[in-house]
Amino acid sequence: MNYKEALQHPIFKIISQSAKELQLDSYVIGGFVRDFILKRGTAKDIDVVAIGDGIKLAKQVAKNLPNKPKVQVFKTYGTAMLRYDDIEVEFVGARKESYTEDSRNPAVENGTLADDQNRRDFTINALALNLSTENFGDLLDPFNGVQDLNDKIIRTPLDPDITYSDDPLRMLRAIRFATQLNFTIEAKSLKAITKNSDRIKIITNERIVTEINKILESKVPSIGFLLLEQTGLLKHILPELTALKGIDEIEGQRHKDNFYHTLEVVDNIAENTDNVWLRWAALLHDIGKAPTKRFSKKVGWTFHAHEFEGSKMVYHLFKRLKMPLNDKMKFVQKMVFMSSRPIVLAQDIVTDSAVRRLVFDAGEYVEDLMTLCEADITTKNPKKFNKYHNNFKIVREKIIEVEARDHVRNFQPPISGEEIIAAFNLKPSREIGIIKEAIKEAILEGVIPNEYEAAHAFMLEKGRKLGLTVGG
Ligand code: CTP
Repeated sequence: MNYKEALQHPIFKIISQSAKELQLDSYVIGGFVRDFILKRGTAKDIDVVAIGDGIKLAKQVAKNLPNKPKVQVFKTYGTAMLRYDDIEVEFVGARKESYTEDSRNPAVENGTLADDQNRRDFTINALALNLSTENFGDLLDPFNGVQDLNDKIIRTPLDPDITYSDDPLRMLRAIRFATQLNFTIEAKSLKAITKNSDRIKIITNERIVTEINKILESKVPSIGFLLLEQTGLLKHILPELTALKGIDEIEGQRHKDNFYHTLEVVDNIAENTDNVWLRWAALLHDIGKAPTKRFSKKVGWTFHAHEFEGSKMVYHLFKRLKMPLNDKMKFVQKMVFMSSRPIVLAQDIVTDSAVRRLVFDAGEYVEDLMTLCEADITTKNPKKFNKYHNNFKIVREKIIEVEARDHVRNFQPPISGEEIIAAFNLKPSREIGIIKEAIKEAILEGVIPNEYEAAHAFMLEKGRKLGLTVGG
C-alpha cells in the first residue's frame, strides 16, 4: 500500500515543513491511518503526534497556513486544535504515560513515538505515518496493526488490563469498534473487559452515550449490545435492557426473551432507517415489560400497560445518562408509548376509523411508527410473519388514502371553541369541550368528513341534543 496517498491534502506538507522548522518529528496517528487502510473514506479528523511540544507545532502550522487559523489550546490535556478547510487537526506531544481525563495520575512525561504508541488503545489505532520531510509517508506499525486490520481483530498494544485501566472507556470503544467494523475482540481483551467492567462507573455519561450512539448507528447494532451484555458492561449502563433477559415458565406457559427480541428489532430497524432516535426507540420499546410482567392462571403472561410504563422509563433513562431532555426524548417516548398500536391493527381487519385514529395520535411520526412496528415482527412462524407484513402494507396504503381524504395528521378542529360559544351564545362551560370532543370523535370515526360545513351542522345537532338553543 502506498501510504503517501493518504497524505495528499496540502495540510500534511505544511505540518511536515512546520515540524522541520521546529526541528522535531511528527506523525499522523490513529483513526485517520486506520480508516485510510480500511478504505472507509478520508477522515476529516486528523491526530498528529509531535516528538516534542505539540502545542508549539500547532501554532507553527497555523502561522504557515494561508488562512492563519486560530489555535485552540487545551492546557489540561496538553493538546491543541486547529481547523483548515473542513479538516480538524489535533496536535499532541508524544507521551510516556497515557493521560486521559480519568487517569489517576495525570503527570505526563514526554516520550518517544514508541512510548506514545504503547499507550494507545488498540493496535489498529496505534498506526502512525511519518510526516518528516525525509521519510514522508513511511508507516510505523510496531504491533502489527495492519495485520490485525486484515484479520479483523481488536487487540491492545499492552496487557489489556493496563490499557483498560488507563482509561476504562476503552472497554466500550473496543465493543464499538467491533460493532462498527465487524471485528472480533481478542479473547484476552474480552476477559479483561469482563474483569474490569464495573470500572465503567468512573466514566462520564456523555462519553458513554457517544459510544452507545455509535453502536446504535452501526449496520448490525446487536453485535455491540450482545458484547456489552456478555462482558457485564450493559448492566451498568443500561440496566433496563438486562432486566428484559430471561424466559420464565409457570405451569408450562412461557414468554419470549425480550432482551434478544429487542436486539432483533434493533437490527431490523437498522436496515430501514438511519434515524438514531428511531433506533433508540427500537432499543427501548419493550423496557416497560420488566416491571409490568405478571402471570395469571387465566391468561398466562401479561405486560399490562408496558408501553405507558416504558415511555415513563425513557425519561428517567435519558435523565440518568445526561442525554438532552428535548423533543428527541419526547419522540422516543411517543414511539415507545405507541409501539403496540399498529400491531393490534395488523392482527385485525383494518378499518378506516382505526387508521384515522392512528394517524391522528401519531401525527407527523406515523411513518416512523410504522417502521418501528414492522421491525417488531420477529415471529419465526412464516405464516404469521407474512400475514403481519401484508396487513402492515394494507395499513400503509390506508394511511395514504385516509390522509388524502381526511387530513387528520396535523388535526386542527374545523370548528373552534369561539364558534361554539358564538353559535349558542354560551359562557365558558363544559358544553364547549363536550361539543369539540364530539366533533373530533365524529371525524375520526368517519361519521362526518373533516370539513367545515359538515362539522358545523354536526355542532348544531349536538348542541340541540345537549339542550342548547342556537343564538342562546
Ligand atoms: N485513543 C486512545 N484511547 C482513548 C481514545 C483515543 O488511545 N480512550 C487514541 C487512539 O489512538 C485513537 C486516537 O486516540 O485512534 C483518536 O481518538 P478518537 O478521535 O476518539 O477516535 P478515532 O480512533 O479517530 O476513531 P473515531 O473517529 O471513529 O472515534
